[in-house]
Amino acid sequence: MRVGMLTSGGDCQSLNATMRGVGKALFSMYNDLTIFGFEDGYHGLIYSQYHQMERKEFSGILTRGGTILGTSRTPFKLINEPDVNGLNKVASMVHTYKQLKLDCLIVLGGNGSLKTANLLSEQGLNVIGCPKTIDNDLWGTDMTFGFHSAVAVATNAIDCIHSTAASHKRVFIVEIMGHKVGMMTLYAGLAGGADIILIPEMPYHIESVCAAIEQRYQGGSPFSIIAVAEGAMSYEDAQLSKKELKKKLENSKYPSVSYELADQIFQRTGIEVRVTVPGHTQRGGEPVPYDRVLATQFGVEAANLVKKGEFGNMVAMKNNIITKIPLKEVAGKLKQVDPNSQLVQEAKEIGISFGD
Ligand code: F6P
Repeated sequence: MRVGMLTSGGDCQSLNATMRGVGKALFSMYNDLTIFGFEDGYHGLIYSQYHQMERKEFSGILTRGGTILGTSRTPFKLINEPDVNGLNKVASMVHTYKQLKLDCLIVLGGNGSLKTANLLSEQGLNVIGCPKTIDNDLWGTDMTFGFHSAVAVATNAIDCIHSTAASHKRVFIVEIMGHKVGMMTLYAGLAGGADIILIPEMPYHIESVCAAIEQRYQGGSPFSIIAVAEGAMSYEDAQLSKKELKKKLENSKYPSVSYELADQIFQRTGIEVRVTVPGHTQRGGEPVPYDRVLATQFGVEAANLVKKGEFGNMVAMKNNIITKIPLKEVAGKLKQVDPNSQLVQEAKEIGISFGD
């Protein structure tokens, strides 16, 4: 059995834990196993950069952040374009796979990476996907590994802001990752006791945000904490076309939505506002126990799919059961926060404003 493995896209805390699950399960299934680890994501598959992963490489990595294979972004929209030297990337990946006589390729990746995984599957390669991303925005799985660890970091950022916000009677904005999806912000905002949560799926009205701040002020709470998704947008911005929004952002004097919001809140309320951006710390450090368990489950399931020859699938979690879903059903689809979900409703019921 010859298996290739790679980690692609932005890293997250339990990539190593997942590879450990795959490796340990496969080594206990096969005596004749060779695992090739491709370096820096699809880059390694395109340019034949890999090494043979020994059994011992999968030990001692359960708690280690990052990825022992390295990762890189290989944008799906450019996958069919030749590289700077005119190399056909897809053909090159197929070539590496065939040259190494692989029986299958396991891809640990998020949205874009799994689109490429599906493309390779359509090219006739045996591919299995594992749902990685702190954003938890992958369609077809209730949970992705990395999400809960990143939420823990973001929550800690909000926790640390609480005491200083109260002492200074200021408004604090904590900007949380998640790309175009507000899942992380919703969870971290709730876990950290944010007063206002702004997510891309629920465009905000600046008047409602300021009203929520002032209402707290009048109610005897002269500080507010706003958890803002990096992809959050105002109601006005949400009406713009993609092109118009891109132009607006390119010409904006603000580094991100949080700074624009801070300015608007100060102009309207006169209350001091500070912005904190935990940024890539959210992807760093050790995975939380939940992610270690989930990563192990996903890794073992990926090994089971190899054993059963069930290729062209992504391992997934549905209703707390570890299962699989065809890659072609996942590719290109985004999972977003449902504004009518129970969680959003519950948040509203305890007085959290979404600025909507
Ligand atoms: O997809 C994970 C993620 O961390 C997003 O939340 C964020 O928008 C993006 O990656 C940042 O990407 P990069 O690490 O390339 O700056």
